[in-house]
Amino acid sequence: MSQLSPDDLLKQLQWRYATKQFDKTKTIPNDTWEAIEDSLVLTPSSFGLQPWHFFVIKNPELRNELLPHSWGQPQVTDCSHFVVLAGKTSMSEDEIDFFLERTTKIRGGEIEALNPYRDMMLGFTSQMDAAAQLQWAKLQTYIALGQLMTSAALLGVDACPMEGISAEEYDRILGLPEKGLTTSVACALGYRSNDDKYATAPKVRFEKSELLTSL
Ligand SMILES: Cc1cc2nc3c(=O)[nH]c(=O)nc-3n(C[C@H](O)[C@H](O)[C@H](O)COP(=O)(O)O)c2cc1C
Repeated sequence: MSQLSPDDLLKQLQWRYATKQFDKTKTIPNDTWEAIEDSLVLTPSSFGLQPWHFFVIKNPELRNELLPHSWGQPQVTDCSHFVVLAGKTSMSEDEIDFFLERTTKIRGGEIEALNPYRDMMLGFTSQMDAAAQLQWAKLQTYIALGQLMTSAALLGVDACPMEGISAEEYDRILGLPEKGLTTSVACALGYRSNDDKYATAPKVRFEKSELLTSL
């Protein structure tokens, strides 16, 4: 297993920044994009339930439609690939069973052997009301967002995470409620424009001592 050096990791994390201006002429190559999609799929989640769906929006008309509901941020239309991360609006017993069937298919064994795990997951999800389930699913999507941004940075791809969007309008345009989904956050990916002054702005972070305590 090859290992990234600590220096290389920090170099890439320093290199990444929330890109404000993308170079419209540059497209992420297919093999790089495939790896980024796979990194999304590999995102870990609570219990492994993956309460999300990711929409990769390439269609320029659809992006134009989303633009006014994104505080007019040009990253939506100028980036190479625009991803909307959506959370499941509820986690039903059927969804949990679907996950357990998949687990058995991949790992083998009898599905009944997973009953204690099933009971634990149902115990966890059933004690949440609809709002809490939604909140939980949205929290999970942020793990995917983090993985997406870091994976992109390691591959030399620029990204801008975007909460400055109207989830209601995105839901309407993408037809998410009928799919049992709701917009959580978005991410524009591509390559920075030479004119983006934010690319060279020093990072604003609190001191490590203010953020981290070793006990
Ligand atoms: C969840 C999340 C949502 C964000 N939403 C936006 C956004 O809508 N538009 C934008 O330009 N930047 C957005 N940002 C970028 C942050 O402002 C930026 O990450 C932060 O200022 C740190 O700067 P850096 O990422 O360049 O290091 C968002 C960041 C995160 C993590």
